[in-house]
Amino acid sequence: MYKILLRQDLVPNTHLFKIEVPEVARKARPGQFIVIRIDEKGERIPLTVAGWDAEEGSVTVVCQEVGTTTRRLAKMGTGDSLVDFVGPLGIPTHIGKVGTVVCVAGGFAVAVVTPIARALKEAGNRVISILGARNQDLIFWEEELRAASDELIVTTDDGSYGRKALVTEPLKELLEGDENVKRVIAIGPSIMMKFCTKTTEPFGVDTVVSLNPIMVDGTGMCGCCRVSVDGQTKFVCVDGPDFDGHKVDYGELTSRMKVYTPHEKICMVLSEEA
Ligand code: FES
Repeated sequence: MYKILLRQDLVPNTHLFKIEVPEVARKARPGQFIVIRIDEKGERIPLTVAGWDAEEGSVTVVCQEVGTTTRRLAKMGTGDSLVDFVGPLGIPTHIGKVGTVVCVAGGFAVAVVTPIARALKEAGNRVISILGARNQDLIFWEEELRAASDELIVTTDDGSYGRKALVTEPLKELLEGDENVKRVIAIGPSIMMKFCTKTTEPFGVDTVVSLNPIMVDGTGMCGCCRVSVDGQTKFVCVDGPDFDGHKVDYGELTSRMKVYTPHEKICMVLSEEA
């Protein structure tokens, strides 16, 4: 069993869990993910690693309530335990020294982007981060991302906090300006990643996205996380989750992510009635 050392509410429907799992904490790297199961009959869900502490033996994940299992997880608290915790999985984000890197975090992906930005900065890159959310109520870890970056730009769709803009606006300005951006790392909803890659394309800037399709085993066996990248079939759990954003088939990705939506709705109704 894997004990929850800390549970914290970050913003409505988004929660942080620090879990005791020393063997994973020793090996986790930025960009990797883990798969958990709440109990013996529970479904397996992937969560990207938001932090780790090898000394404490803990791994931190951030979970947004989007389905039956994440809602059940949201009801768990400090001291509760998970039956399964598998990881770290996936290929870590490549952290090299390239110069100026722009990290774009859409919504709750700030939890994923922050350790990547920190590692890039520690590797000697100039890191400019853009944190975007629909409104002020959905923003968290602003100070964490600011500390991990050389510069931070905050945007909200409705202008309730920071600059009223989509993340692609400051991204385009940075690409047009004097920063000599060498790489963009965009993580968030698929639509946001798609438009970030469309923004960088005319500038020919290397753009990395972290894909988040439906997963089951997380080890390359079930085929559930299949995506098309540059016309080739890839499995996000073993070939990713990071890919060249200019080569991803976002249409296929989005439609495959909706496959179980009707089942998920039924499941949520049934679990609320139970
Ligand atoms: S989750 Fe099964 S192959 Fe990737």
